[in-house]
Amino acid sequence: MAKKSGYGHFSKDGRQFVIERVDTPSPWINYLSNGKYTALISQNAGGYSFIECPKDGRITRWHPDALPADRPGRYIYLRDSSSGEYWSLSWQPAGGPREEYRAAHGFGHTTIAASHGGLESEVTFFVPVSDTLEVWKIDLRNSGDVRRTLSLFSYVEFCLGHALIDLINKPNDQHFNRARFSPDDGAIFATKTYWVTGSGTGARQENKEWDRWAFFASSLPVSSYECSRDAFIGPYRSEADPIGVETGELRGKDVDYGNVAGVLKNELELGPGEGTTVVIVLGVCPKEEFPGRAKELVARYADASAAGDALGEVRKHWEAYMGAVSVEAPDEDLARSVNYWNQYQAKTAFDMSRSASYYHWGLTRGMGFRDSAQDTIGVAIAEPELARQRIITLAGQQLKDGRALHYFHPVSGEGELTGHSDDPPWLVLAAVSYVEETGDVSLLEEQIAYRDGGRGTLLEHLSRAIGASTGSLGPRGIPVFGRGDWNDTLDYVGGEKSGESIWGGMFLAHALGKMSELLGFTGMQQEAGEMSSVREALVKSLNEHCWDGKWYIRAINEKGGVLGSSSCREGRIFLNPQAWAVISGVAGADRGREAMDSVAEHLGTRYGPKLLAPAYTRVDPEIGLITRCAPGKKENGAIFCHAAVWCIIAECMLGRGDRAFDYYRKLLPSGMSQDLREVEPYVYAQYVTSDEHETFGQASHSWLTGTAAWMFRAALDYMLGVRPSLGGLLIDPCIPESWGEYRVRRLFRGAVYDVVVKNPLRVSKGVARMTVDGREHAGNRIPVVPAGGECTVIAEMGREG
Ligand code: GLC
Repeated sequence: MAKKSGYGHFSKDGRQFVIERVDTPSPWINYLSNGKYTALISQNAGGYSFIECPKDGRITRWHPDALPADRPGRYIYLRDSSSGEYWSLSWQPAGGPREEYRAAHGFGHTTIAASHGGLESEVTFFVPVSDTLEVWKIDLRNSGDVRRTLSLFSYVEFCLGHALIDLINKPNDQHFNRARFSPDDGAIFATKTYWVTGSGTGARQENKEWDRWAFFASSLPVSSYECSRDAFIGPYRSEADPIGVETGELRGKDVDYGNVAGVLKNELELGPGEGTTVVIVLGVCPKEEFPGRAKELVARYADASAAGDALGEVRKHWEAYMGAVSVEAPDEDLARSVNYWNQYQAKTAFDMSRSASYYHWGLTRGMGFRDSAQDTIGVAIAEPELARQRIITLAGQQLKDGRALHYFHPVSGEGELTGHSDDPPWLVLAAVSYVEETGDVSLLEEQIAYRDGGRGTLLEHLSRAIGASTGSLGPRGIPVFGRGDWNDTLDYVGGEKSGESIWGGMFLAHALGKMSELLGFTGMQQEAGEMSSVREALVKSLNEHCWDGKWYIRAINEKGGVLGSSSCREGRIFLNPQAWAVISGVAGADRGREAMDSVAEHLGTRYGPKLLAPAYTRVDPEIGLITRCAPGKKENGAIFCHAAVWCIIAECMLGRGDRAFDYYRKLLPSGMSQDLREVEPYVYAQYVTSDEHETFGQASHSWLTGTAAWMFRAALDYMLGVRPSLGGLLIDPCIPESWGEYRVRRLFRGAVYDVVVKNPLRVSKGVARMTVDGREHAGNRIPVVPAGGECTVIAEMGREG
């Protein structure tokens, strides 16, 4: 097979990422999820599955940081009965030379293909759109010229409940595992008679059992099975050479103790040119519906034609989801990203928050408050109802005084009030963005309980969120830092009480501005005016105390010491206050330009702007964790992609389309060297290591990052400039001067807007004239079209008319 450069590439239609070399520098994964049941799967079939919560509802095990990496997974072995030779249908754990394997990640499905000694296999893994299970659809074909007698072993290692307890207390925990084979269903059923939820690590044991039964079944008659992992693998062996496959013999035994596995053996005969499809189903059902529901799901899905139909539905589901936005642009990478991969990642990050990835092992934090609030902007176009529900859930994590839990677990309800100062206003921004997108002001009337008792409308929740921030100002009238602001690792700057966050001030100014607009929109003019006055005082203070000459400082500690100033040896300039000075309107045009020029000058790298520079090299306990982190990594001066996106938005607001686009291109995962980057080239990572570390260009924490939602909206709302506002859709492009024309079709408040933007004079910003449905239209705000309708817009860029 001809070697491609790197490890993989997008398919022609952009809808798949094809991995030709499966020995990637790190596992490259995909998410198969319907929002309830989730399976993470790598190109080598590694990964884990859970129901609702990766900590409390873990179905299968995955060993974090295992060597070899990425074990176990969804393994399928074939054994030739005449020679005894065996191999796995994915390269790991028992594959031959890597050239025989190929994997393709698509939306909601992953296919792994292998060719081995005249046997071709293609396994497609997916999670159906609504049921709580996953399907492994195995297509086999004998391309050789002799008849083959084969045994097929499908294998999964169960966790059954609480993943953290399983990891730290397995010798005790495994006494509660139960697994049995049901000959009638050709299925193994497994559960645990004990279950803890939440942190679960105290001495007191909970008195309850896991609320699910897991099932593992095959569409072919099962000739034998095994429920013990250790019996199947054998002592001092691994998934690479399980004794059960090597000998071809399984014990056929249920277990009441130990490491539980699901192993099913099927016998197959394939003549030359013959093929067949085998379907393996792994899933869960609620305990109270067992066994009926489990049997029903097994019977329904363990069938080749039903599995094919279910896969078709998954494809349709994603086509429809992504159909909400479609872009034709001169830059193919941007179009592919906005149309597909960036949207897909944004939905995934919304579903998972920061809880379940190969970097977040699903063992500690649950749903992040600020993260989840930001994630809503990534799904609000295609699924506004999901954004609405999430905003309500988040408001339910607030206390009466407006503060909010920093994170919470959806199943156990547990969470923590950490005192991060920026949490409350993120709810305001999420809610305003939702109303801008949907026009649905009824959300503001929703009655939602506070965590510490009492209820209020969402609007009251928002007012209290604002109150929590405006009620916690430091000596200069700027918000106190607390345990951290957006940057979790500036965790000791706040001191006892009065250290101030300059970024926090800009962020609050932005939230006050948005809240004021929302109040005005709902007819509450007086309250809107009051909000504006509070904002003005804050803006004045920020400009009086925080301009350093060429950029804004980052923080002032309790002793009056400053972070992010030209007088600092390290951490001299931070990205966040510069970008947000522009986004919030705190900076006038001159300061805004100067601040963003300073970003370009001091923070610019080949892969986008760094979070700060120079990175800290000396531990400073009065600053915090950031100074303990390796220079050039994570918050200590990496290219922290989430924050880097704000530079794109700021540059667009300043009208500098070429610089915005330059940042966009530099941050594109697919533009980076696959070897250096190491993680997936089809999704954004939390950070890319900066030039202050020897691993410059190495990325980490892929998939679950605020970058996903923000980048999608930066491209669509600010560069392509088709942006919702309370009064309707705005056309406000900011593009590279070289672009001649592009098109955006977008759903907005139930209608389809087809927008063509022409740029005959090759400018970056400014709409000179516009027609709406063929008629001249003044200004750049399009009137709202009734739901179900369509609207054609042609905008011509040039000097505003
Ligand atoms: C991570 C966190 C996010 C935080 C950021 C900066 O991405 O998920 O909440 O704002 O780090 O510390």
